[in-house]
Amino acid sequence: MQHAARVDPPRLEIRNLTRRYEGRVVVDDVSLAIPAGQVTCLLGPSGCGKSTTLRMIAGVDMQDEGTIHVDGALVCDTQFRIPPERRSIGLMFQDFALFPHLSVAANVAFGLSGPKRAQEDRVRGLLARVGLEGYLDAFPHELSGGEQQRVALARALAPQPRIMLMDEPFSGLDNRLRDGIRDETLELLKEEGTSVLLVTHEPEEAMRMADEIALMRDGRIVQQGAPYNVYNAPVDKAAVAFFSDINVIHGVVRGALTDTPFGQFLTPGHPDGARVDIVFRPQHVSIDFDRGGRGPSPTAQNGTPARGVVERARFMGSESLVEFRMDHDGEVLRATVPNVFMPAVGTPMWLSVRRNRCFVFPTGT
Ligand SMILES: Nc1ncnc2c1ncn2[C@@H]1O[C@H](COP(=O)(O)OP(=O)(O)O)[C@@H](O)[C@H]1O
Ligand SMILES: [Mg+2]
Repeated sequence: MQHAARVDPPRLEIRNLTRRYEGRVVVDDVSLAIPAGQVTCLLGPSGCGKSTTLRMIAGVDMQDEGTIHVDGALVCDTQFRIPPERRSIGLMFQDFALFPHLSVAANVAFGLSGPKRAQEDRVRGLLARVGLEGYLDAFPHELSGGEQQRVALARALAPQPRIMLMDEPFSGLDNRLRDGIRDETLELLKEEGTSVLLVTHEPEEAMRMADEIALMRDGRIVQQGAPYNVYNAPVDKAAVAFFSDINVIHGVVRGALTDTPFGQFLTPGHPDGARVDIVFRPQHVSIDFDRGGRGPSPTAQNGTPARGVVERARFMGSESLVEFRMDHDGEVLRATVPNVFMPAVGTPMWLSVRRNRCFVFPTGT
């Protein structure tokens, strides 16, 4: 007989969390489990309930239903409640201000207890780790935004929380600083082995930071998985659109196939007569020149090309975005091309769509 391997409970587990404000459900039956050392991003548009979820886990708001466990131990249900300061949870928010009247060292030491000497070592170690060893005696107003952010991170990590909750922590920083600080922060969190739940409305941030993304919409988690999977196997049209511009063509299924101006698509699993949306990203459109009114030949990979004329071309830095007005329906289709591609307005071109990069959803979902 085999012995079952002992499995550690998740570092943080929330089960069926629901929160209502004045009868309106803003967090709706949300469940999540985060193993030790993992970074999970709660990603969704503004107002979808991300911060409310975080506040319940932190213990500053209380759920109407559901439970919160840390390392398998109940932290909070609708009757029982461990106070926020005893949850071993660190917090970092965009506007989580440092104490202005305390030095950098005193800010970082704020949540520490125990022998003075050990506290000082921890503070020095963390400040060195974030590149601020020379700033022990400085005051917050003497620091740049990025430096303040590093102090806030050191302060949150000082008591060695088992879990770190971060609510849009980088949104106050300018773009140039942000990437560097994100990477440094992630590195430090990984070193400390802290489990992280990071809230953001920016897909790029989630893709950059997350081991796992939980995509949230209208109070619910609609999809959960590694960034690659959430991006490449989206559950619905809105999930595709949350990460990038999309193109949509409509069709009706006939015997597991759908005819479109871009040729036939295989649409298995959709019933005969069903209306479907075929959704694809601008980077998966191929562009070919017009040769005397003809385009390239159809291929299995790209189907049949359809003709459009350039309506607008914009250079975006690492890529160019070209909008076409399509001959067959007069609708606009967007294509992106790496580097510089700036065809003149009015140029006829042939577009085709990478079959294996299309997503098919029933219309209206
Ligand atoms: N204390 C509150 N009282 C009433 N409504 C609230 C309260 N806090 C948040 N809400 C509402 O709950 C919804 C979710 O808010 P929030 O969790 O802050 O969203 P997010 O962080 O995703 O932007 C919003 O519609 C917001 O207006
Ligand atoms: Mg919020």
